[in-house]
Amino acid sequence: MAKRSSSYICQNCGAVYQRWQGKCDACGEWNTIAEETSAVAAVPASQRPRGRGRVFALESLTGTTDEAPRLVSGINELDRVTGGGFVKGSVLLLGGDPGIGKSTLLIQACAALARQKARVIYISGEEAAAQVRLRAERLGLAEAPVELASETSVEDILATLQHGVPPRLVIIDSIQTMWTDTVESAPGTVTQVRGSAQALIRHAKRSGSTVILVGHVTKDGQIAGPRVVEHMVDAVLSFEGDGGRDFRILRGVKNRFGATDEIGVFEMTGLGLQEVANPSALFLSERDLGSPGTAVFGGMEGTRPLLVEIQALVAPTSLGTPRRAVVGWDSSRLSMVLAVLEAHCGVRLGGHDVYLNVAGGLRIQEPAADLAVAAALISSLTGAPLPADAVYFGEVSLSGSVRPVAHMGARLKEAAKLGFKRAVCPVPGNESGSDSGMRINGVASLATLVADIAASGEGQKRKPAKVSQ
Ligand code: TYD
Ligand code: MG
Repeated sequence: MAKRSSSYICQNCGAVYQRWQGKCDACGEWNTIAEETSAVAAVPASQRPRGRGRVFALESLTGTTDEAPRLVSGINELDRVTGGGFVKGSVLLLGGDPGIGKSTLLIQACAALARQKARVIYISGEEAAAQVRLRAERLGLAEAPVELASETSVEDILATLQHGVPPRLVIIDSIQTMWTDTVESAPGTVTQVRGSAQALIRHAKRSGSTVILVGHVTKDGQIAGPRVVEHMVDAVLSFEGDGGRDFRILRGVKNRFGATDEIGVFEMTGLGLQEVANPSALFLSERDLGSPGTAVFGGMEGTRPLLVEIQALVAPTSLGTPRRAVVGWDSSRLSMVLAVLEAHCGVRLGGHDVYLNVAGGLRIQEPAADLAVAAALISSLTGAPLPADAVYFGEVSLSGSVRPVAHMGARLKEAAKLGFKRAVCPVPGNESGSDSGMRINGVASLATLVADIAASGEGQKRKPAKVSQ
């Protein structure tokens, strides 16, 4: 007989408690713990009948797959992030703020695949089928043979999916609106979300359909409720954007079938999401030429070079403890660059507030941005604008030396393509991308860079410390 047990589960992070409490110890949120009853785990393991399991066939690793293992949507920015298309039988979780464009992206992907004659099903738990159809019409996708439904019951959805040819792609928009009979909690609770996700994941593995679950995001950027779901799915993609601007970045957070450092860049237009094939041009489009405190960083996002502007403001502080504020970069890396500037280059910043911003709302994770950050900081401190035709990249070590970075050739080529003439970067080794046509100012240490910028600020002729090539 099923025994009803109830537990208290944090709706934010999924932590389980024996009794109610006001604050979740695991994630620190207040008032997120709710009682949930479940009829599962009714029979203790020791009392379950033994020897009743079904015998299943084992397969070898070298099996043949007759169908293409990946489903390529043809939307390059999306395919890049998934690692080259959707893998058969895989489950993806797409997270993002409300209104960022998750449903738009997915209906576009569905239409693209349906046009390639793949069977595609879009299940919306939030919008009526008519609303989804209206949007598709507005995007000019209405003629694509996507099969639509507005449903929230997981059992009904699974029964429908098992009917007819197995679909190649199933969209569940969103997982928070789904509910399953097998658990008793209300829709939207962690137990329901987990139960529904489990059932859908089981279906994906069994049928070979790719399932995409849409997940909402809480105010601090976590995928709400289904944090637990993140561990169950094959890939977690996050769709991000800057409220005021129209471009959106699709980022892989976890991917069992590809790299996680790839990004896809889109622009939200009146006609839906358009791919941005050349994001560097977009991120540099509103450049503030000739003002001190900005440096162009020659970065890499996955396998793709990406140029972005780094802005710094160094101003005398009016507080006892100077402020350090960073948007788009790691604040502990900023502290490190500041410490190296103080210790090895004689730059005193103890009495200055430091603000750092990566233009365009991009988030940079590479240590190669150290040199561009240092250049922007010194430029702001000295009031000397950096040359408009230079890009900066290089990792700074604690000893103040500038260390080589990967993919130098790709960075230089991208900069040359966008009209830059010189690169301030680590001293190149033998295999540098000298065929790019860029002039390379190799800097061996951060002190040389500081001396260079300070010298140009005094109106002297710019003298690169060490010019190779
Ligand atoms: P939507 O895909 O519904 O977001 P989500 O599913 O992530 O909640 O996107 C809705 C927003 O996108 C809405 O604010 C309007 C905007 N939008 C456009 O600017 N152009 C378009 O062609 C479409 C369809 C939406
Ligand atoms: Mg939506």
